[in-house]
Amino acid sequence: LSNGFMKIWNGPSHLVYSPVAVAQPNGSYQRKLIGTYPICTETEALEALDAAVAAYDNGRGQWPTLSVDDRITCVENFTQKMIGQKDSVVKLIMWEIGKSYADSVKEFDRTVEYIYATIDALKNIDRQSSRFEIEQGIVAQVRRSPLGVVLCMGPFNYPLNETFTTLIPALIMGNTILFKPPKHGTLLFYPLLKAFQESFPEGVVNTIYGRGHAIVPALMQSGKVNVLTLIGSSKVADELKKLHPKVNRLRAILGLDAKNAAIITQNADLKLSVDETVLGALSFNGQRCTALKIIFVHRSKVDAFLEQLTAAVGKLKYGMPWEKGVALTPLPEPHKPAYLQECIEDALAHGARVVNEGGGTSFESFVYPAILYPVNEKMKLYREEQFGPLVPVVPFDDIEEPIQYLIESTHGQQVSIFSQNHEELSLLVDPLVNQVSRVNINCQCQRGPDVFPFTGRKDSAEGTLSVVDALRSFSIRSLVATKLNENNKQ
Ligand code: G3H
Repeated sequence: LSNGFMKIWNGPSHLVYSPVAVAQPNGSYQRKLIGTYPICTETEALEALDAAVAAYDNGRGQWPTLSVDDRITCVENFTQKMIGQKDSVVKLIMWEIGKSYADSVKEFDRTVEYIYATIDALKNIDRQSSRFEIEQGIVAQVRRSPLGVVLCMGPFNYPLNETFTTLIPALIMGNTILFKPPKHGTLLFYPLLKAFQESFPEGVVNTIYGRGHAIVPALMQSGKVNVLTLIGSSKVADELKKLHPKVNRLRAILGLDAKNAAIITQNADLKLSVDETVLGALSFNGQRCTALKIIFVHRSKVDAFLEQLTAAVGKLKYGMPWEKGVALTPLPEPHKPAYLQECIEDALAHGARVVNEGGGTSFESFVYPAILYPVNEKMKLYREEQFGPLVPVVPFDDIEEPIQYLIESTHGQQVSIFSQNHEELSLLVDPLVNQVSRVNINCQCQRGPDVFPFTGRKDSAEGTLSVVDALRSFSIRSLVATKLNENNKQ
């Protein structure tokens, strides 16, 4: 189960059915059983936590006291072994979460690039911290020291990338790790377990599987977790934090809910706005925390925008993830199609219409993208994060309307504004940048490039990630200070 201990599994297992369907001889489709994984009990999860605690050993363990160069070598070894498993990992991403083959390859490559960028950034930080500073007769070396045991949980939509953008920086800074893969997106870590085992000392990376709600509360209640890192929902993050007996001492690095808006003004380039809206709202079926989840369009542009958006969405290829050029694929969360249908019906009941021929499903995990208009504040889609292929469009007359929406929102991740008028843009940027953590001008919302800070305001995040920020987030600046006097001349 972990690189601290391997055991023969006798307990219950979870059967993993792919969202991807396989055609049956009678013409119907059936989800494919692609594997099983063991379900840890609470006791086993606590054992894995104890392995991480023992390996950290109050900062005196082999890993936290290893030199930066040696830790880097271990991570490099791991990455080489991971690259050797690329084919298996990519195919498992594709089968487990229904991400297109091309996007699964991108996710893998982006993750490897991120690891190497992290190594380079750490070398820089280390070079800086080996410099000595002298102030008021005190010579000081500022170091970056680890924090302890990190509980790391990633999301299903970028199971490899989002997990490793927290796990790797936490690890390389000298922390020990307890890691629970996402429910949809677990099997893909199997090919990497041996690499963890061969690359790191015993107990440094511990992997647990199973039902989060059944095992994670006990981990938090134990008080042995020093850092919680979760990319997921703010509700779950709040519940977990509260369970920690010393919540004020717990560091949390969280990437949470978002309802990113696009604002298409009367001065927008329509083709550009449509192209970026399609990418922003529907890449990976809208299942990105950074996706555009509500589109505000100036009333003078609405008709043309809806016409062009409908045409563009109609051109997107639907199919199985291995098909060439496929853009829209089956959804991994079994409850999602019914939830999306509920959102559509709620919107229809409150006066919207489906502008294209979207919605509906041809197979239980497929949902065709639906453009809904005119969306208003009475509808679920106005505030809820749909995390699926629905595009709610809201008309506005005064730019104050979308600004007010963002001010009132409980989310604060990103916004996209579309305008070719520089004066208008410069008037909008300042008020918007104080509502969200990233304002995108004439382009969709996104996390990358990964060197950029990735965070959010309000319920959208806690702490900041990026190649460099993550190294800072998972460490503390500590000081070795010596007073210069006659006895301390050396
Ligand atoms: O789900 C959140 C991901 O970090 C989004 O990354 O914007 O590069 O697709 P992306």
